[in-house]
Amino acid sequence: MHLLRIFDLDKKAIDELLRSAAVLKDRHRRGIPNHPLRGRVLALIFEKSSTRTRVSFETAMFHLGGSAIFLSSADSQIGRGEPIKDTARVMSGYVDAVVIRTFGHDKLDEYARYSNVPVINGLTDAHHPCQVLADVLTIVEKKGGYEGLKVCWIGDGNNMAHSWIEAAARLGFELRLACPQGHLPDEGLLAEAGGAGNIHLVSSVEEAARGADVLNTDVWASMGQEHEQETREGVFKGFEINQEVLALADKDAIVMHCLPAHRDEEITEDVLEGPHSVVWDQAENRLHMQKAILERLLIS
Ligand code: CP
Ligand code: NVA
Repeated sequence: MHLLRIFDLDKKAIDELLRSAAVLKDRHRRGIPNHPLRGRVLALIFEKSSTRTRVSFETAMFHLGGSAIFLSSADSQIGRGEPIKDTARVMSGYVDAVVIRTFGHDKLDEYARYSNVPVINGLTDAHHPCQVLADVLTIVEKKGGYEGLKVCWIGDGNNMAHSWIEAAARLGFELRLACPQGHLPDEGLLAEAGGAGNIHLVSSVEEAARGADVLNTDVWASMGQEHEQETREGVFKGFEINQEVLALADKDAIVMHCLPAHRDEEITEDVLEGPHSVVWDQAENRLHMQKAILERLLIS
């Protein structure tokens, strides 16, 4: 089984991951050893930069008794044009699972088609499922559950927005998205996810934030879009979580950002560092959720 997008999991599987991540976190905090992946090897093939995803997956693997190998495309034959399908078959003979961070989601799909070992999406232009699973764990910790919550997304209809849309479709919480014209989430994905009527594209930041339990945003220009930074600064102006936007939300609202953040663009410094922000918990939870994902995919 692969984990390429949230839609690869049903509600039961997501709930199981949330439960086992919480147990693994508790074990870690209490210093109880847990080595179910002794002798197993995880490869990470990354074509984009990473701090959290790389370090949390590598650390998770070590904590679980296994080991990890990191390959940047520049250091491997992938960077010299070796076909993905060849790499996938070769790697399947060496390692027990692979995390891939790349650009087009189609590249990940192709890799997965040729891989005989589980493939995990470490971020593509279209999806970031492991991040959103860790974020839902953070919501459960802070709010006691996800049911009945109003989650809002302010900013780009990007990979993170897509994974939130799929999470809302699977778990049923309300999701309101405010995105600038020309940067809306993928229409096909919205149509696929929209059946239950809990996902709403709204026309203003205020409409998204009003009464929200969770405020969520991400950078205006994602990896690979750096050359659009200046144009996007114009288009996204106002799509920012600041004190005024926070004041519209529920008084106990939490503010989330997957990081890295651009302070005083999509989120102000005072909100990011303020009492409603849970960004450091989100980042820490990447470790515990990665462990839950690895156990699920590698122990059957
Ligand atoms: N949030 C996230 O995926 O961070 P990295 O790019 O540092 O992995
Ligand atoms: N949308 C961002 C997320 C980074 C974790 C990007 O793709 O660069």
